[in-house]
Amino acid sequence: MIILERDGIFILETENTHYVMGVNCQGELNHLHWGKKCNIDDYFVNYKPWERSSNHSARDFAKTEYLPYGGAVYRPVALTCTYPDKCREVMLTYKDFNITEDDGAFVLEIILEDKPYKLEVSLFYKLQENTDIIERWSAIRNCSDSLVTLGKIASGEFNFPSKRPYTSTNFNGTWLAEFRKEETVVKNGVLTYESRKGGSDHTVSPFFVLSQNADEQQGDVFFGALAWSGNFKVEVSRDCVGVTRAVIGINDFDFSYNLHAGEEFTAPSVYCGYVQGFGKMSNLMNDYAVEYILPKSFAKEPLPVLYNSWEATWFDVSCEGQQKLAEIAADLGVELFVMDDGWFGSRKDDHAGLGDWYVNKEKFPEGLKPLIDKVTSLGMKFGLWFEPEMVNPDSDLYRAHPEWAYHYDTRTSTRLRDQLVLNLTREDVQQHVFSCMDDMLNEYDISYIKWDMNRCYSETGAENLENPQELWYRHTKAVYEIADRLKAKHPGLQIECCASGGGRADLGALSHFDMVWTSDDTDPIDRLEIQEGFSLIYPTKSMRAWVTDTNRGSRPNDWDFRFNVTMQGSLSIGGNLLKYDERELEIHKKYIALYKEIRETVQFGALHRLANFAQDSIYANEYVYGNQCVLFLCTDVTTFFNDKFYRITLAGLEEDALYKFEYEGEEKVLSGAYLMNVGLDYEMGSSLQSKIIVFEKVQ
Ligand code: DGJ
Repeated sequence: MIILERDGIFILETENTHYVMGVNCQGELNHLHWGKKCNIDDYFVNYKPWERSSNHSARDFAKTEYLPYGGAVYRPVALTCTYPDKCREVMLTYKDFNITEDDGAFVLEIILEDKPYKLEVSLFYKLQENTDIIERWSAIRNCSDSLVTLGKIASGEFNFPSKRPYTSTNFNGTWLAEFRKEETVVKNGVLTYESRKGGSDHTVSPFFVLSQNADEQQGDVFFGALAWSGNFKVEVSRDCVGVTRAVIGINDFDFSYNLHAGEEFTAPSVYCGYVQGFGKMSNLMNDYAVEYILPKSFAKEPLPVLYNSWEATWFDVSCEGQQKLAEIAADLGVELFVMDDGWFGSRKDDHAGLGDWYVNKEKFPEGLKPLIDKVTSLGMKFGLWFEPEMVNPDSDLYRAHPEWAYHYDTRTSTRLRDQLVLNLTREDVQQHVFSCMDDMLNEYDISYIKWDMNRCYSETGAENLENPQELWYRHTKAVYEIADRLKAKHPGLQIECCASGGGRADLGALSHFDMVWTSDDTDPIDRLEIQEGFSLIYPTKSMRAWVTDTNRGSRPNDWDFRFNVTMQGSLSIGGNLLKYDERELEIHKKYIALYKEIRETVQFGALHRLANFAQDSIYANEYVYGNQCVLFLCTDVTTFFNDKFYRITLAGLEEDALYKFEYEGEEKVLSGAYLMNVGLDYEMGSSLQSKIIVFEKVQ
């Protein structure tokens, strides 16, 4: 890992790649290369400012490293701004660079400037040891003595080497259907993935993945994932000379930012890399997230098996009812008991109570102590649900402070799920929200918070702000700050990020929260696809998955199938335990015990996506960690015409090592080479069959 500067050329050398930039004859920073390594002395800048009498603009076609809007530029840009003299164009030229060391990592800062206006832009590139991931971000400094208004502030612009069209992968999801992969070939124009809803949303995700002829093992894959949970924008474009680019960052929709004299704005990080194959990308990002992105306190600890009462009781929680569930959960081997919505204020359904974060005395006459004492005496930790950013108009909080919700006096505020969004850009609201949760954490033995967020923003009036268009940015920052403050004050606290399922599941959330709630869709068949999409770029251990009673009737699936699917993330239980018979409880016990034996492999191991329904009519996912390998097989809804035979060849094992496992009721020991090159035949006769096979390395 090195960072080199040679005559205005900057070379970032990761484990297997080079990322290279150079200052051109006009003093602008051009992108030169991203891909396999070359001889570092060979790089040179070949930029021809060929504006003569033609209608073409060289800047518009150039491979630029961070193109602002200014001059003859017509494609998606990284930066826009309005200066005090009303000039709305930025021209950046190279000024300086720094290379620093930060806790074992190297950081390159390239400083660009718009001289007449004393505006500086720093582009940062951070390289950690032994990885191909580069962390990129930008910072804008106003060194003048007047206010400038920033419009768009991308975290990075990226250029891709091939002239041929790339395939762009993202999601096309919604609530109850998150992370459903969608591929688009980008031949021309601009393909935009964005959120305008306040959170990063269920629909698309803040990343770009651009590939050519790629599958799990091979083919060029370029990717960049933004650590931001608010409105974002990813613009992937291809011009008529075949240059594909991506600009990624905070969304400029209804956004601007007042940068006062002497102030700096730092854009969120984007983690990017170039690899061969999607499998490599997922595993690189998984390992990197555990090492550098997830909150340090729990990043390297396996997550506990959790019970969540939501689907068992909905809003109808009571001390006695929860205690009964807790008793059974503990007996099954659950380690953390989480009470979901319904415990506070006058909450009976979703029409009232949000904002009143004190215990409902009808449901819990003696407060939460009797329940929490019960849970902890059973050897489990206790967790509690909050939706801190929201308020129901029917709440004491709203009656006391209607002005605390975003609103316009002249408009009727839209109620989604009968709730409004609190104006978290106000310091008094931030402090109130923090104190409500902090008070509960001080009073009770609470180890876990599920932080929910169940509506998109609308009528976003924020008259408290000098520039109300900053609210999209400031709100998300406030969420991060409150979560960080709670974690700092209560060191044992884990926080799960939820937004009607996976509506705020991104690397920004995962920098401040320990995990996410993946989807309200707990149907295991749907979940296989949801989990596959999630695993593309987000870390396995952060993916909370519940075994529930959900069984959409038309396609019954058994407990084995549900556990098999759910154990591929952070296992949780979410059904109504009170209704289970002895056999069902025994099945729960068996799988929870098995999960504890394999969870390090699942949560930290390398994932090999061997087969999926779309291509193979079976999902085969394999996790390898240390001496253990776990293979999960789940078949789809088959016809009765044929019994199904599957040959599964494993991946990621040591060729010469021997692996012990159970095969057709007998113990077998086979070499890694055999398992990877010949494979194993599995007959899985009827619909929705599943198997979990554990391989232990014996030599
Ligand atoms: C939406 C979440 O995704 C659910 O898990 C549950 O917590 C409900 N909100 C509670 O209202």
